[in-house]
Amino acid sequence: MNIRKNKRLDLLENLATAVVLIDEHYRVDYLNPAAEVLFRVSTRQTNGQDIRKVVPGFAKLTDAIDRAVAQGATYTERETQIAAGPEHYITVECSVTPMENGRILLELTALDRHLRISKEHRLIAQNRAIRELIRGLAHEIKNPLGGIRGSAQLLDRELDHDELREYTQVIISEADRLQALVNGLLGPDAQPEKRLVNIHQILERVRHLVQAEAPKGVQISRDYDPSIPDIQVAPDQLIQAVLNIVRNAMQAVGKDGRILLRTRTQRLFTIGNITHKLVARIDIVDNGPGIAPEFQDQIFYPMVTTRAQGSGIGLSIAQTLVSQHGGLVECSSQPGNTTFTISLPLEERDE
Ligand SMILES: Nc1ncnc2c1ncn2[C@@H]1O[C@H](COP(=O)(O)OP(=O)(O)OP(=O)(O)O)[C@@H](O)[C@H]1O
Ligand SMILES: [Mg+2]
Repeated sequence: MNIRKNKRLDLLENLATAVVLIDEHYRVDYLNPAAEVLFRVSTRQTNGQDIRKVVPGFAKLTDAIDRAVAQGATYTERETQIAAGPEHYITVECSVTPMENGRILLELTALDRHLRISKEHRLIAQNRAIRELIRGLAHEIKNPLGGIRGSAQLLDRELDHDELREYTQVIISEADRLQALVNGLLGPDAQPEKRLVNIHQILERVRHLVQAEAPKGVQISRDYDPSIPDIQVAPDQLIQAVLNIVRNAMQAVGKDGRILLRTRTQRLFTIGNITHKLVARIDIVDNGPGIAPEFQDQIFYPMVTTRAQGSGIGLSIAQTLVSQHGGLVECSSQPGNTTFTISLPLEERDE
């Protein structure tokens, strides 16, 4: 009997669906690991606690729970968004089943995960195809551009009228601008050397660089998890990726905005087809105006920009650099709260 019980527990513990068992006062009786991951809490924190206190958004499910209890049958709430923690919103489908012993069984499937994975597959595939196309085009532009600039320079020297020189100067400076754009589009070399580094060193570099460029009122604060192990990366590339994202945040917040750099580890995280046991998460949060929902899907494409001075390649480059580390950049945005998350797989260690 005991063995069968344990087997059932084992099943629950390995289920990808989050399972929560509560009593009629919403006190937590049991929470499986998938639920711990979904709500980012631990069993230790939740046992015997009112689930609405631990997971603030849970209050939204009380109607569903009341209904199931009143009907004495399973009730399913489809696609509902709940706050699982500060700045952590999840979309779930939740089935509520009242049990004979007065307990209430909740099964939650994170729809974000499905939505995220299909969206993310699209992101990775599109990014790759577009990068190829852009690199090809950039190469084609790069060569004649050198010729145009060189000829304009020669012509400039031959001209004796300053008014005419204005024209050659326009050609030269525009050629330079295009050259910088093309260099950006071509991106960095494919395989730079990777070494073990502490991601906080990288973040601190970026913080100093951006703080120096930012208006005085802009505050960049930190919330680092010091337990994150060192990670095998090409430091310059990762600096560039983070810099592109933090710069965007700085440009978005204006004169006296707030930017937060936060690091965490996360268990069981899928990138592409691979579910990693542990990933390092870098969140770059800003309190700027946010990104319009219909625009959010496009910002990782090259040449997509809303800034007059922008070339629209910063995020595309960041995504490419992070994907060269097996990672992914994602974005979620509401007015006043925009979060870019870089997820980097941490190598498995034998313990
Ligand atoms: N933190 C943010 N808040 C609001 N909008 C953002 C944020 N980050 C990016 N965006 C939007 O995404 C667009 C694309 O960003 P991306 O970095 O790729 O290009 P850019 O900043 O416009 O130009 P570049 O980085 O090449 O100079 C931006 O123009 C902006 O509209
Ligand atoms: Mg940018």
